[in-house]
Amino acid sequence: MLVFRDISTLQNHLRNLKNNNKIIGFVPTMGALHKGHLSLVNKSISQNDSTVVSIFINPTQFNNVDDLKTYPSDINKDLELLRSISDKIIVFNPESDELYSGDIKPDQFNFNELDRYMEGEFRGNHFAGVATVVSKLFSLIKADYAYFGEKDFQQLRIIENLIKEKKFKIKLIRCETIRSEDGLALSSRNNKLNFSSKKIATNLFKALNFAKEKIDVLCIDEIQQKISDNLSNFKEIELEYFVVADEKNLKPIKHKQAEKCRAFIAAYISGIRLIDNLKLY
Ligand code: PAJ
Repeated sequence: MLVFRDISTLQNHLRNLKNNNKIIGFVPTMGALHKGHLSLVNKSISQNDSTVVSIFINPTQFNNVDDLKTYPSDINKDLELLRSISDKIIVFNPESDELYSGDIKPDQFNFNELDRYMEGEFRGNHFAGVATVVSKLFSLIKADYAYFGEKDFQQLRIIENLIKEKKFKIKLIRCETIRSEDGLALSSRNNKLNFSSKKIATNLFKALNFAKEKIDVLCIDEIQQKISDNLSNFKEIELEYFVVADEKNLKPIKHKQAEKCRAFIAAYISGIRLIDNLKLY
């Protein structure tokens, strides 16, 4: 398996592949890989000639220094996992300076209000940081397809919008959320939870399912209230938001509408912030 740490050798290699008309898939990650990430990698492998996986903990998307410092990281384990899938994967694992040339700041973007609610509301400049690093990676890798998880649905919509606005010649492929058997969405941050907190965290998925069950019979305010009341019974859970929003423009809705919508949730479980979402209809 090839592991590149600098842009120029990666680009030399990719140029060779492109000269041979190879179709390239790209999976951006921050490492601490789990089966959710690997599902994206497998999809890319099945649909492309070559797959590039980036592993880079992007400093500009963290609005909390402690969160950045304690973000789980184990590059050797990640490489082992990728190698176990295919030794043809191309890994890009740069240092910050390689991508940011010493200027570790997010660029400015207009996300057409997709960043107005939910993660955009509660995590400051988070999406500007995400879009900054994804733009850099798209520009230097020039893949044909990019694989993003619905687990971070707002991020996925923002990147779809970014591709359109910046006219990147790449197509985003949506990948479904992978969950553990009890419904907990896989996340690198789950590594920070102990066994009992993980069990308690399954209440987020239960809340989303409750919304899906009740969307035809209760109004959205009532659903919201019942979820908030129920979660307040757990001292380990601090609900940040529960929102039902239009799937396309991500605007929160108060009444059922004809267009597709999703429920989104963010909560601290024993101090660790988790997010999840579920398509309602
Ligand atoms: P990271 O959290 O490592 O996630 C990388 C990709 O894996 C994202 O597209 C995310 O949605 C997807 N993913 C994570 N958990 C998943 C799950 N349980 N099921 C399916 N897909 C899942 O998202 C980021 O990194 C960063 O913001 C990044 C895009 C790499 C930019 O730094």
